[in-house]
Amino acid sequence: MAKPSSLPSSYSLFLISSMLFTSFLVSSEAEVNGLSFSFYSQTCPNLETIVINHLKKVFKQAHWQAPALLVIFFHDCFVQGCDGSLLLDGNPGERDEPLNRGINHKALQTIDDLRELVQRDCGRIVSCADITVLAARDAIFLSGGPYIKVPLGRRDSLNFSIEEANNLPLPYNTTNVTLKTFASKNLDVTDVVALAGAHTIGHAHCHTFYNRVSPPDPNMDKTLAKLLNSTCPTTYSRNTFHLDIRTPKVFDNKYYINLINHQGLFTSDQDLYADNRTKGLVETFALDQTLFFQKFMDAFIKMSQLNVLTGNNGEIRAKCNVINDERSIVASMVDDIVQLPN
Ligand code: HEM
Ligand SMILES: *[C@@H]1O[C@H](CO)[C@@H](O)[C@H](O)[C@H]1NC(C)=O
Ligand SMILES: *[C@@H]1O[C@H](CO)[C@@H](O)[C@H](O)[C@H]1NC(C)=O
Ligand SMILES: *[C@@H]1O[C@H](CO)[C@@H](O)[C@H](O)[C@H]1NC(C)=O
Ligand SMILES: *[C@@H]1O[C@H](CO)[C@@H](O)[C@H](O)[C@H]1NC(C)=O
Ligand SMILES: *[C@@H]1O[C@H](CO)[C@@H](O)[C@H](O)[C@H]1NC(C)=O
Repeated sequence: MAKPSSLPSSYSLFLISSMLFTSFLVSSEAEVNGLSFSFYSQTCPNLETIVINHLKKVFKQAHWQAPALLVIFFHDCFVQGCDGSLLLDGNPGERDEPLNRGINHKALQTIDDLRELVQRDCGRIVSCADITVLAARDAIFLSGGPYIKVPLGRRDSLNFSIEEANNLPLPYNTTNVTLKTFASKNLDVTDVVALAGAHTIGHAHCHTFYNRVSPPDPNMDKTLAKLLNSTCPTTYSRNTFHLDIRTPKVFDNKYYINLINHQGLFTSDQDLYADNRTKGLVETFALDQTLFFQKFMDAFIKMSQLNVLTGNNGEIRAKCNVINDERSIVASMVDDIVQLPN
């Protein structure tokens, strides 16, 4: 037994926990069955280092890949769960749905490049679904946001769902609709307002906000309205505009300050500052970035565990854009035989 200290232990515990709390943020969300924070600690100990080191290089050349990877995470998880279904080629596939047309092909390639690097180091044991989550986590961190420790162990789907891709939230809808859309995934009002803060980085095409350009939305800041009107002569214009007019490349809480100044881009963004269930949270996050980061982390971890495949379900893909066919199964059996200890 350790010698009792002169301070009551409850006091020192309090001290330690409050020190932890103020020095770095840890999500209070627990992992779902089958996932674990140390899933690959024996089988692929360099996984997280390989991923972040490669992404540092990618973002140095192409900072826009950070938001592109974050939105891939969202659209993968929201449709049939975080199972890599969005990554699959199809004829048609999930990505051919209108709401997925903005998904960037170079960012999808980055996910497969990461898979290749990881497979070279560890063999085929890390799923494309896990790599997608790790890439989004690092995109947030390397853009100035919080470092989110994520549970791992997801497996890749054997199919995708075109139908479910139609359930993604729409930029033209109001909070009323947005809240219902997320509630169907057990994400509450706080989760929605925090997750919407992902629109602190990245860009959008004219057709996604043209409903506010013509006819001009009176609820939009006049300066922003002018900029958008000159960026988008028609809804078909292929131009884009920043989601966060203040700090478009930095993951911070300026998104909420934009909303308070009527500088949100989508109807779904700006209406968060109109609906009385969400307005207070917008004001709170605008004033307190640490609290925004905390709530964002909690919601990110929840979303990252939606309908995951674990255990013997699904598979570990050998290529992120196709399910393992007969040929690659044979090839991997040969790999396994070669790798047997002698
Ligand atoms: C509240 C409901 C949401 C709606 C209606 C919505 C809608 C959209 C739309 C229409 C775009 C532009 C797509 C394009 O023009 O290519 C976009 C971009 C983006 N969204 Fe959302 N989104 C929502 C929630 C989220 C969430 C939860 C996340 C992530 C956690 C997210 C992350 C992003 C990012 C990072 C971009 C920029 C992509 C890029 O620059 O390549 N969004 N969103
Ligand atoms: C995909 O596979 C899962 C598991 O086998 C199944 O429950 C689901 O219905 C399938 N989805 C589609 C769209 O075929
Ligand atoms: C959401 O927006 C779409 C497109 O503007 C519209 O057709 C639909 O009716 C809206 N949904 C609801 C429930 O209001
Ligand atoms: C929001 O939805 C509720 C029902 O869920 C409805 O009673 C209300 O009229 C809707 N409000 C708006 C502004 O659409
Ligand atoms: C938008 O731009 C068009 C020209 O492309 C111009 O005719 C129109 O007056 C502008 N509207 C506003 C509200 O600035
Ligand atoms: C929001 O406003 C409606 C009336 O528009 C009211 O019935 C409701 O109690 C308000 N809710 C909150 C949380 O303030």
